[in-house]
Amino acid sequence: MLRGPALACSLLVVMAGALGCKRDLGDCNLAFDPERPIEGPAAFDIAYRITDGLPMYEGQALVQSTCGDGSFCHAPAAVGADRIGVPAGLNFDVDLACTDESQDPSCAQPIESCESGQTDTAYCQRLQSLQNNQNQINRFAEGMIQEMRAGAMPPGEAGLRVRNGTPWLRKFDPDRPDRTEELPPIESAEAQEIVRNWLACQAPVIARTEMPASADDELEPCPSVDGEICIYNGPQGDLPGPMWSEIYWSIMFNECVICHGPPNNNVDQNPDNPRGGDIPGGASVDALAALDLTGPNAMDTSNWASDSHPAVVDALAYDAGDCAGDGTIVIPFDSPNSIMIQKLRDTQTCGTEMPPLDPISETLIQIVEEWVDLGAPNN
Ligand code: HEC
Repeated sequence: MLRGPALACSLLVVMAGALGCKRDLGDCNLAFDPERPIEGPAAFDIAYRITDGLPMYEGQALVQSTCGDGSFCHAPAAVGADRIGVPAGLNFDVDLACTDESQDPSCAQPIESCESGQTDTAYCQRLQSLQNNQNQINRFAEGMIQEMRAGAMPPGEAGLRVRNGTPWLRKFDPDRPDRTEELPPIESAEAQEIVRNWLACQAPVIARTEMPASADDELEPCPSVDGEICIYNGPQGDLPGPMWSEIYWSIMFNECVICHGPPNNNVDQNPDNPRGGDIPGGASVDALAALDLTGPNAMDTSNWASDSHPAVVDALAYDAGDCAGDGTIVIPFDSPNSIMIQKLRDTQTCGTEMPPLDPISETLIQIVEEWVDLGAPNN
């Protein structure tokens, strides 16, 4: 089962061999300037994640969501089987060091400057790690481009299985009204040009976000403390209501099924699939054994929310997981003692937080809690 991704990720390792080649990154276009139109994308073009408005530069978003997304292959947090063949240390994780404090208490203001001796805070350590990974990307940039041009990177079919397919929307630019609303898929020539240009500009990264006070601030720069790039969050997508079907389609299917589901290369027959027909799954054998959030029909996900409800509500932690014998995944009317909520909040007594090292927002966690405290019905 792991053969496909293993092949895909080891192809990325070939990049190391390309290091000696001459620099071939092409021109860098940092910002789009309507007065002096330059063909192609700009490295400071911003996209934001449809589920929570998280902003990244377009190249950053494309590399982050396909090279590991905090969990696989080139992510520092990925260990053992989840690295899928990528050597230790070859990390390209460019997730933000901090999101606003309502989602992440360690980002509470004021953030001390990391440069004036304050290096031991969680924020400073994450900023340092982001910069290390950014340097790593710059070191391997030529190899990444050569692999892209050869069609080997990003890895096609196999890479699909471990990528995070949550759609990213582009910040609207009145000077370029014809651009697609969604960030194009990494296989497209347009996306590869976005990544090439971003690499040629030395891979600038958004390091931090804050909640905008009003819609006018959305996706505009916010004050930075250490010269790190801070951008206010983008518009929040439609939030799910406290109902299992809505929680399933906006959170479970997008953030969890990739690990808590079997490999699936089918094009979904469900017309309401939020990911354009893509069915995530197959990224973690261990996670699937601990909890299967899918349904029996592998061609059509229409009933997967109600199908998976019994695996979650009143279900004892599965033998295969680290929580076996420690309790129940969701206990109706009792969110504090439900293992799923503990894992979403990183207060678990067994195993790790969920999703591993890439928490969902506080707002979304509260919606899941509300559903549990309403009795966790299959609605
Ligand atoms: C990167 C892969 C990955 C992702 C993404 C992921 N999980 Fe997990 N999950 C695991 C692994 C591995 C285990 C088993 C180890 C453990 O219990 O910590 C697990 C275990 C669990 C368990 C305990 C199940 C049991 O029977 O013990 C719950 C509950 C859970 N995950 C919920 C979630 C939720 C909810 C999400 C999405 C918000 C999610 N997971 C996303 C890998 C993942």
